[in-house]
Amino acid sequence: MNNFRFNAYTDIRFGKNQVEALPELIAPLGKKVLMVYGGGSIRKNGLYDKVKTLLADFEVFELAGVEPNPKITSVREGVKICKKENIEVVLAVGGGSTIDASKVIAAGANYDGDPWDLVVDNNKIGKVLPVVTVLTLAATGSEMNKNAVISNMETNEKLGTSSHNFIPRASICDPTYLFSLPASQTAAGTADIMSHIFEQYFQHEKRAFITDRFAESLLKACIKYCPIALKEPDNYEARANLMWASTQALNSLLSCGKGGAWTCHAIEHELSAYYDITHGVGLAIITPRWMRYILNEDTVEKFCEYAKNVWDITEEDPYKCANMAIDATENFFRACGIPMTLKEVGIDESKLQVMAENAVRRGGLMNAYVSLNVEDVVTILKACL
Ligand code: NZQ
Ligand code: ZN
Repeated sequence: MNNFRFNAYTDIRFGKNQVEALPELIAPLGKKVLMVYGGGSIRKNGLYDKVKTLLADFEVFELAGVEPNPKITSVREGVKICKKENIEVVLAVGGGSTIDASKVIAAGANYDGDPWDLVVDNNKIGKVLPVVTVLTLAATGSEMNKNAVISNMETNEKLGTSSHNFIPRASICDPTYLFSLPASQTAAGTADIMSHIFEQYFQHEKRAFITDRFAESLLKACIKYCPIALKEPDNYEARANLMWASTQALNSLLSCGKGGAWTCHAIEHELSAYYDITHGVGLAIITPRWMRYILNEDTVEKFCEYAKNVWDITEEDPYKCANMAIDATENFFRACGIPMTLKEVGIDESKLQVMAENAVRRGGLMNAYVSLNVEDVVTILKACL
């Protein structure tokens, strides 16, 4: 097992009505709050009014309209407000996009240059205003992690940045907020959770037994509960398990004792950077094709472990067993209603080469679980068409 640091200090308040704790959680951090949210879902489901009422004794400023695949332009607006109003706390109310934008806004408040610098080079991230979140979508794990992913559509770049100072001080995780999610976001969010697990599970280190068993149990939770949430959007048990899976899948628990470059995320970020597609959809399309491409004599044993422990497949022939698990993964995403080809999301062959070049360079794919060069990535993307 490799050495690791596990320091996930977010105060998680999980369950119905936990939002009531918001004033108590924010009060020690400051009085002047920037509330950041997306395109309006929180106005429709009543959460906006609830938060505003709870924060009646605070001075609350607002940044609305953060887009899915949050753009640097929104971050710049938020930073302006922070500087002008001397904001002390950033409160993100929404999904991963809102939370990610909030983290970079919180860093930008203490940075003199363009906040895009902080995305390109995380060494420039210094002091970060405290971030508190109210989560409304189970997917990214941003509610308890040190990452933020921001897009710059002028340069076709979607880049991840990361700082320990980004980790939210507190996150309200109330599964009832997921009831209003459209089916497409429930499914895409689950594909994202599963991809986070795969990226950490399929790595070379074989001795991280505990970590791998955690990973498998989270995958089983996604496979069990996503179909239930799709059929019964207000099934509390299903939403609660998906929400907790999202948090645990990417708060560094699953990389304890493991490590190595991620693959599908590096490729997907290029699809989003050029075509602004939904992150989880891109991952669902890429993942089974990547799995088939990297199946070889070095990896087959790991795929059989996945087949046996996650899908309860008992086939004895290793390659048959591995392929059955990969087929099951693809069929699961399809059954959740996710479009499973690039064509269905408006992507044709024209930019495959440049996206593959960027993915290999930015994502360090030569050092991934199975090393991939540009030609390999183009082949995987062609299989996705
Ligand atoms: O903008 P609003 O109106 O709120 O609508 C959002 C948005 O349209 C809607 N939504 C969210 N909660 C809802 C809801 N609609 C109804 N009811 C609710 N309760 O869902 C849409 C998508 O929201 P978004 O925040 O974009 O989704 P998600 O949480 O999947 O975040 C995706 C972003 O996170 C990045 C992705 O690349 C993408 O930019 N990631 C962040 C990571 C991290 N910070 O660790 C890791 C991930 O791998 C990922 O890269
Ligand atoms: Zn992801």
